Amino acid sequence: MATTKDYRLGEFTFPRGWFMIAESTELDTYKPLAVRFFGKDFALYRGRTSGRVILLDAYCPHMKTHLAAPNTTSYVVIDGQGTNIDGDGLRCPYHAWRFGPDGKCDDIPYHQGAIPASACVKSWTVVESLGAVWVWHDPEGGDPEWNHPSLPVWEDPAWVRPKWDHLGMLNQHPQEIVDNICDYGHLSPIHGSTVERYENEFQGIHAIQRQCGGHRTLVTADGVSPDLHTVTTYHGPGLLMSHLTGMEESYMLIAHTPVDDGTIKVWHAVVVKSPSGSAVATKTDQIAAAQFQNTVLLSFLQDMEVWNHKAPCLNGLFIPSDGPFMKARIWYKQFYNPRAKKQEYLDQCEGVYIPKGATAYSQAAV
Ligand code: FES
Ligand SMILES: [Fe+2]
Repeated sequence: MATTKDYRLGEFTFPRGWFMIAESTELDTYKPLAVRFFGKDFALYRGRTSGRVILLDAYCPHMKTHLAAPNTTSYVVIDGQGTNIDGDGLRCPYHAWRFGPDGKCDDIPYHQGAIPASACVKSWTVVESLGAVWVWHDPEGGDPEWNHPSLPVWEDPAWVRPKWDHLGMLNQHPQEIVDNICDYGHLSPIHGSTVERYENEFQGIHAIQRQCGGHRTLVTADGVSPDLHTVTTYHGPGLLMSHLTGMEESYMLIAHTPVDDGTIKVWHAVVVKSPSGSAVATKTDQIAAAQFQNTVLLSFLQDMEVWNHKAPCLNGLFIPSDGPFMKARIWYKQFYNPRAKKQEYLDQCEGVYIPKGATAYSQAAV
């Protein structure tokens, strides 16, 4: 395991961006969830009054109790019918101080006087979108630099909304996963792609890969490999969306979020256009879409199997026929450094890149 410092990414240990921290349905039981990301512990819960999702720092300022650790014996939880969520607030199981969605303590049952202003925990900016909960993480504490993750087809009844695959923890720095966006050379040996045309582009917060060709994992039920096009885009450092055409039109989503410095949690989902062509996806479409998601997952697991065992690539032996790894790594640095320095990195990486010997994606009709 290597750290952000080992990769010389910049000033911050954890990047700026929107990051997935849970699937929405994990919060529907109205029990708080103890989660850990960015080297910190958090309490994540859905307010009972408003239904909104709230993320607080985990440890109560009174005596440092974890506000969301599983608890079944405190009378705060027993009297709350199995939860310490109280309205839109969260009550500490130890002495019953209650924290509102803004993180401020608003009730101490055994105290009549003023509540100290320091009786608060940080409340984070979170949104629910794409069936998941996303936090805005910014080492400088700024407002979101770009809009939270979304996809217009998510609201379209002709498309099937997926369940997320929870792929668990990976003992790799996220740099190793982000490298994949420009890994031209692995497409044939790992995925069995023929890669007829290929290019990368870096533009602002987006890192893009366009490619087309046959595939040995993504094949039809008859084993036929269609001419598959994928336009794959990182929207900031934590979410990749790949628009796939040629088989079922779909968007593959891969989200990864740093847990500690050098480890990540990974999720995968595929949003599929109704395979029957129906304007409103049917039950049969849902089954077919879930099967397609499983096939796409097999393709991603081909990458994961390698990542599970590789050593950190701190000094790669790159060749001109590889994808633009060094450009992608410069692009990635913008998120590990102050916003004021962002343009310095973009000046060094923005543009379109074609590996030596490859045919540019845009050179032929799509
Ligand atoms: S430790 Fe939380 S209320 Fe005392
Ligand atoms: Fe891959």
